[in-house]
Amino acid sequence: MHVLVLGAAGMLGRKLVERIAAEGGLGGRPVDRLTLHDIVTPVPPAGLTISSTIHASDLAQGDNAARLVAARPDIIIHLAAVVSGEAEANFELGYHVNLDGTLKLFEAIRGVGDGYCPRVVFTSSIAVYGAPYPEPIPDDFNLTPLTSYGAQKAMGEFLLADYSRRGFLDGVGLRLPTICVRPGKPNKAASGFFSGIIREPLAGMEAILPVSEDVRHWFASPRAAIGFIVHAAGLDTRPLGQRRSFALPGVAATVGEQIEALRRVAGDKVARRIRREPDETIIRIVAGWPRSFDPQRALALGFAAETSFDEIIRAHIADELGGTFVA
Ligand SMILES: NC(=O)c1ccc[n+]([C@@H]2O[C@H](COP(=O)([O-])OP(=O)(O)OC[C@H]3O[C@@H](n4cnc5c(N)ncnc54)[C@H](O)[C@@H]3O)[C@@H](O)[C@H]2O)c1
Repeated sequence: MHVLVLGAAGMLGRKLVERIAAEGGLGGRPVDRLTLHDIVTPVPPAGLTISSTIHASDLAQGDNAARLVAARPDIIIHLAAVVSGEAEANFELGYHVNLDGTLKLFEAIRGVGDGYCPRVVFTSSIAVYGAPYPEPIPDDFNLTPLTSYGAQKAMGEFLLADYSRRGFLDGVGLRLPTICVRPGKPNKAASGFFSGIIREPLAGMEAILPVSEDVRHWFASPRAAIGFIVHAAGLDTRPLGQRRSFALPGVAATVGEQIEALRRVAGDKVARRIRREPDETIIRIVAGWPRSFDPQRALALGFAAETSFDEIIRAHIADELGGTFVA
């Protein structure tokens, strides 16, 4: 099986490729060819034995997408994107990558013709929803994005559904929860502090909390996110009908509950490394974000995530910190 990963140099892209390399397959099916693409050169994991090809180019530019799909990959994992904060700060770039890049990809797939119909896993976001919300948000809640990023992801979902309906591709759209704890350096996502207030204290550093402790949000770990993508790659899509995108399981937690979980898992000294410094811009953005979901469809389809924020912190300590932290 040939797998193409777009956005392979990103946080989830690297983790997904590591998992494919470790298992020699995806969703239980062996992978004998891997194509890794990103606008920055992806670095394959050490010891990768699967035959791999590396491409660095702008997915949305010229015939780059057509070149990537010409080899007819069986599964395409489309992670390439400009994230929320950057898409809001740079209108043109957000539409270029998140909308034009996705359309270019789908058009390139359609252009292959000859019955070609790959599985496409598209990482959407809970940013497709907009306040006011019921609590929890049910599966049939309407899409009213309140950011350019959310609008671009919603448009990507419509394209995914229509290209699937027309038989050009077999799409699964994952409305990922906010991925927490995001490893490494902070990115330009407005949600960055949700990870920062756990990651930095565990590394012995001070973290800034820009919102109040009663802000509630919807989380899953990077480990769970990779689990969603792997499950989507091998999913029987017949039960999806025309509704190709859906919300996923996660943990609803307030910032206060996040900090309490940090205290339980790592101790009071670690939890005291958080400094409150309100930021009106972030407070305004976060006020419109969803807080909790009732993801019945995803659960029935076999998607699973953590069930407590303590588990999310433990997954971070195990997967990123070698099982230890700065006490
Ligand atoms: N991390 C989260 O909390 C979260 C939540 C919801 C949805 N998502 C979605 O999941 C996907 C992966 O997220 P991530 O956290 O790994 O993000 P990331 O920013 O780490 O990775 C995205 C990758 O896309 C690449 N990219 C940007 N422009 C490109 C272009 N023009 N052509 C090719 N590649 C380009 C970037 O270089 C980057 O490596 C994204 O689609 C994101 O929108 C993430």
